[in-house]
Amino acid sequence: MDKQIQTFLNKVSFLAITIATLTLFLLLIQTPRTCFDPNTILKPHQKFPKSSCEASHRPITSPTKQNRRIWATKAWRNGVASLASTFLDLRNVHYFNNDSHVLCVSAGAGHSVVAFNEVGVSEVTAVEIVESPPLVSKADPHNLPFFDGVFDLGFSGAFDRALFPGRYAEEMERTVKVGGVCVVAVEECGSEVVKEVGKLFRKSELVGVKNVTLLGSKMTRIVFKVTGTG
Ligand SMILES: *[C@@H]1O[C@H](CO)[C@@H](O)[C@H](O)[C@H]1NC(C)=O
Repeated sequence: MDKQIQTFLNKVSFLAITIATLTLFLLLIQTPRTCFDPNTILKPHQKFPKSSCEASHRPITSPTKQNRRIWATKAWRNGVASLASTFLDLRNVHYFNNDSHVLCVSAGAGHSVVAFNEVGVSEVTAVEIVESPPLVSKADPHNLPFFDGVFDLGFSGAFDRALFPGRYAEEMERTVKVGGVCVVAVEECGSEVVKEVGKLFRKSELVGVKNVTLLGSKMTRIVFKVTGTG
């Protein structure tokens, strides 16, 4: 009797193993029905990565499309216009011209790049701690990745937000050529603060101070001419 049960159980086990193996085999050879037909054209958000390498960042809207939307907003247009008017002001007194090479430090989303372009300057390089393609590249303002004296004008609309203002000023002065200008904007201030900022630009002389409205804030624009000597 025991032997019969034993034989029966063995048969059951064998059958179970066979079914399991067959199922596994079928699963391996069969294409799952949930897969998309590769010939169907999928919208970008429906696309599955073909490999794990492809699973990385896949923007649903392209950066340019997104940028175009931002650049169409009133806030963006007003911001650019405020900068463009101050740049025109500076060009009228010949601090730069259309052929100047301009560096924008702490360029944020790139308002100043568009503003310089609009007034006629095409050679504009813009950097910020966080990049903002296609207008602004990533670089540390305290350690600019440029050779000495390669720019005619350096502009920073956020000088008072610098972590190390001394180092920041030194880098602007280094990358702007002798005879070029460094233009910095700080929160609207009096002559005492202007004097303090002036001390940081050790190889330049103060040539102009003006209160302006930039990007919706009252600011003081300070212009230094790089002399190369202290
Ligand atoms: C500079 O560019 C602006 C805008 O494109 C243009 O209106 C202006 O005439 C140019 N100035 C010179 C001197 O070429």
